[in-house]
Amino acid sequence: MKKKRIGAIILAAGKGKRMHSHVQKQYLLLMGKPLMLHSLRMFEQSPIHEIVLVVGIGETERVKREFLEGEPLKKLTAVVEGGQERYHSVYAGLQALTACDYVLIHDGARPLVTREIICRAIDGVVRYQACVAGMPVKDTIKLVDQAGFSQETLERARLWQIQTPQAFSYDVARSAYDWIMEDESRQAGITDDAMVVENRGGYRVRMIEGSYENIKVTTPEDLVVAEALMRRREGL
Ligand code: CTP
Ligand code: MG
Repeated sequence: MKKKRIGAIILAAGKGKRMHSHVQKQYLLLMGKPLMLHSLRMFEQSPIHEIVLVVGIGETERVKREFLEGEPLKKLTAVVEGGQERYHSVYAGLQALTACDYVLIHDGARPLVTREIICRAIDGVVRYQACVAGMPVKDTIKLVDQAGFSQETLERARLWQIQTPQAFSYDVARSAYDWIMEDESRQAGITDDAMVVENRGGYRVRMIEGSYENIKVTTPEDLVVAEALMRRREGL
């Protein structure tokens, strides 16, 4: 059987509004390196065959010049422009990948992804066609009504917080995103890639184990936590 080809899309085309910093979030320094470079390096060192980096509109040349020059990233085959919404950026990444059987979609804002998580996502997608990294929630989660009153306490044992990577057979992801792009009103209420595939129908999405360290750097305090976790990882 022909060896399966696995691609990865690293998303770094967001505006980072909730970070409230003058330097865009993906370029903020974490352990002296731009945020997005951490996950790029981890994917480079994983069994992935090809990586596409998605950056903001008009940013491709600057990113190549200022952040990627001299970086040993042999698997990086394209740096492309994303779009207004995350799904536009994912779609740009899907179009830029060359003939992949599987695709892992990862937030560039999750610098603490590990080789183990990437490998679990690869094993999961080969077996189930669609899988996402996540962890059981630690807090009690309540559904709150419009007036701010607790309506229902959800069964914690069945609640997972969702992370990336999210991995799909390329054709499954591509047809789901083609379907969204045909009529963009279909993206209303969608908050992750798995929902695109779920709403398109036909595939069940399998959960795989991420890590409590695989946080998304969203607000300023997340950067402090990410730095502390990274220092511990490096034995500092
Ligand atoms: N992303 C993207 N294209 C967009 C929006 C988001 O590539 N149009 C990426 C971000 O760069 C990030 C990931 O998707 O790596 C997760 O998004 P989020 O944490 O929400 O980042 P931002 O959208 O940049 O932040 P904010 O929502 O605070 O503006
Ligand atoms: Mg966002």
